[in-house]
Amino acid sequence: MLHQLTPLPGQSFSLDDPVELDRVRELVSPAAATWMRATMVTNSHGATTGKDGTSNSLSRGADRTLLGVLRSHADAVVLGATTLHHERIPIPQGAALVILSHTGTIAWDNLVRPTDAAGRVIVMTTSPEAGLVASADSDTAQVIVMEPGLTPEKLAALIRGTVGGDGLLIEGGRNVWKQFAPLCDDLWLAVSPPPVSDREGLPSWWPVGETSWNLSALYTDEARMLYYHHRAVRGAP
Ligand SMILES: NC(=O)c1ccc[n+]([C@@H]2O[C@H](COP(=O)([O-])OP(=O)(O)OC[C@H]3O[C@@H](n4cnc5c(N)ncnc54)[C@H](OP(=O)(O)O)[C@@H]3O)[C@@H](O)[C@H]2O)c1
Repeated sequence: MLHQLTPLPGQSFSLDDPVELDRVRELVSPAAATWMRATMVTNSHGATTGKDGTSNSLSRGADRTLLGVLRSHADAVVLGATTLHHERIPIPQGAALVILSHTGTIAWDNLVRPTDAAGRVIVMTTSPEAGLVASADSDTAQVIVMEPGLTPEKLAALIRGTVGGDGLLIEGGRNVWKQFAPLCDDLWLAVSPPPVSDREGLPSWWPVGETSWNLSALYTDEARMLYYHHRAVRGAP
């Protein structure tokens, strides 16, 4: 389920139901025909990598389902080569996956092609000779050699021209987000419940031991306060 807390009145969507998933898809529609949207999962400190050095340890709940919804609007999903070195990345169902790299060193083994993924893989690199490691995907990927030093505006135009579409979803990481941030029309931020710690907001002096405390609900209000409702869990379940 996804719960829209604000604007009020809130509403809930069952993400397993294709009709309700479609309503969410409509809610997050880009506002114009030509758009650029950044998406990331962070913790309450704004970190984009968790304990495992990737976004996997930050992502939970509906995050990946919603990423699929965001991807479904895009003509291109754009990421930096370092992200692919750190994470397994599924090729989008419809959009092209654009991997940016100066060196041309691509972690092909981290690309995952789900059976229903029709998206093209495009490597955009400033270095045609450097280490395009041979693999099944390197055979099918399109390689675009760019001139060095393109501005983000020119790079975005090149991506749009290459994929033949104007909707760009910038999936990261930080190096790539920072380049495109000034051009973004919107930002979808999935934030892990703050604070990311096994104490879930409990002060350090609050006794945790024989009694464990379960964060059973989280609320928000018009001032965007967050309210944690902890319930004591005692003894065997
Ligand atoms: N929390 C999240 O939602 C999320 C999402 C994505 C990634 N991440 C995490 O972020 C980390 C990676 O972030 P990062 O900032 O280190 O790297 P990054 O942004 O993923 O990739 C940077 C690399 O992309 C290439 N690149 C960037 N701009 C380019 C341009 N204009 N032209 C050509 N190539 C370009 C270069 O690759 P070369 O080095 O090959 O030249 C550069 O070193 C990983 O740990 C990943 O797990 C988190």
